[in-house]
Amino acid sequence: MSHDIGVAVIGAGMAGRAHAHGYRSAGTVFSPGLPPVRLVSVADINEDLARDTAQRYGFQRGDSSWEAVVKADDIDAVSVVVANDLHREIVTELAAAGKHVLCEKPLAPTSADARAMIDAVAAGIVARVGFTFRRAPGISAVREQLRSGRLGRPLYISAQYWTDYGCDPQAPMSWRYRGRPGSGALADLGSHLTDVAEFLLGPVDSVHGAALTTVVPDRPVPIGHVVGHAHVEVSDRREPVENDDWASFSVRFANGATGDLSVSRIAYGHPNTLEFEVFCEHGALAFDVSRPGEFAIATGGLPGDTNGFRRVIVGVEHPYIAGGMAMDATGIGVGHNDSFVYQARAFLDEVAGRDELPRNASFADGLHNLQVQEAIVRSAGSDTRAAVDA
Ligand SMILES: NC(=O)c1ccc[n+]([C@@H]2O[C@H](COP(=O)([O-])OP(=O)(O)OC[C@H]3O[C@@H](n4cnc5c(N)ncnc54)[C@H](O)[C@@H]3O)[C@@H](O)[C@H]2O)c1
Repeated sequence: MSHDIGVAVIGAGMAGRAHAHGYRSAGTVFSPGLPPVRLVSVADINEDLARDTAQRYGFQRGDSSWEAVVKADDIDAVSVVVANDLHREIVTELAAAGKHVLCEKPLAPTSADARAMIDAVAAGIVARVGFTFRRAPGISAVREQLRSGRLGRPLYISAQYWTDYGCDPQAPMSWRYRGRPGSGALADLGSHLTDVAEFLLGPVDSVHGAALTTVVPDRPVPIGHVVGHAHVEVSDRREPVENDDWASFSVRFANGATGDLSVSRIAYGHPNTLEFEVFCEHGALAFDVSRPGEFAIATGGLPGDTNGFRRVIVGVEHPYIAGGMAMDATGIGVGHNDSFVYQARAFLDEVAGRDELPRNASFADGLHNLQVQEAIVRSAGSDTRAAVDA
């Protein structure tokens, strides 16, 4: 592709703004050569929010419907950043209109929806999923350590994604609290966590011992628009919470490693804690998303009085970060918002036919992620191990 790339973001909520920021900054990092990025539209049924977000991030216009983006001739590539149950319809229509798509996680509510989305994407259309944590430099550095084999065979992962956005029973009802079992914390946070675990250790082949718990039974209906986890004025009317606040489960990977994972939206005192430890035959690795440009490693070969975990600051030589910072120097610091820039850049590079950064997750990865989620839900109702569908 030699001409410029017109981009749009559908959904101007919490993550939509991160996508808008990502597109705005995508051309400022890594090597030159990305065709000019035209920031065309931010679309949201809340027109004021669409306009405000478009203005903040320098997009040409705010649209009040996703259909306007589908019909627009000046848009080539689109992020879909709305509630999960809208992904299938919007992605299908965008693909039919020949637009490249970066769809947020989870790809869809069910694996059947994801299959239909895969079928809807014709050859030549770039279709990717926003498993943004794959772009955290510390996580990809841990992956490289595991792949190098220097710590021996991976044996076990303990991983948590704990948040507290639902702790307050007065937190307003939103799309996040509605849907079938597994569509709550498991879909919202577990989709990320199982993807990270598989990014590190390869595919999960079965799940057992899941528990899905709802602790806050109902929530107040908001007066006005809710963005992300924001608290807004609420009415006296309450609606039942339909899905899980907390989920925990054990996994077995195809390579024989095992793991225990848990996710929560009611983990008091944890606004956004994604952390894990991976134990291998000859060492261990640890990561904490509050320090996304670092990891910790414990290896043999050190004198007993100084052994133990060591902190490693991921440097500019690392593939997800080299050239990825405005101040291009090790130790300057990165955050989750930078990962949205790297994700947008990898997507636009692929749209432009360039091959600089590791690709974002595919729709096939998004389908597999849902098959893992469905196995987790099956295992919650059974004493036996649930195999992940292929
Ligand atoms: N990758 C990440 O780190 C990350 C983080 C948060 C959310 N997400 C994902 O992003 C998606 C959106 O989450 P969010 O937290 O931004 O939600 P949100 O509720 O903050 O925002 C969603 C927006 O979509 C708009 N919307 C609703 N119906 C619409 C329609 N028919 N057409 C156009 N716009 C419509 C709403 O008005 C709202 O502004 C979800 O799939 C979520 O899982 C990903």
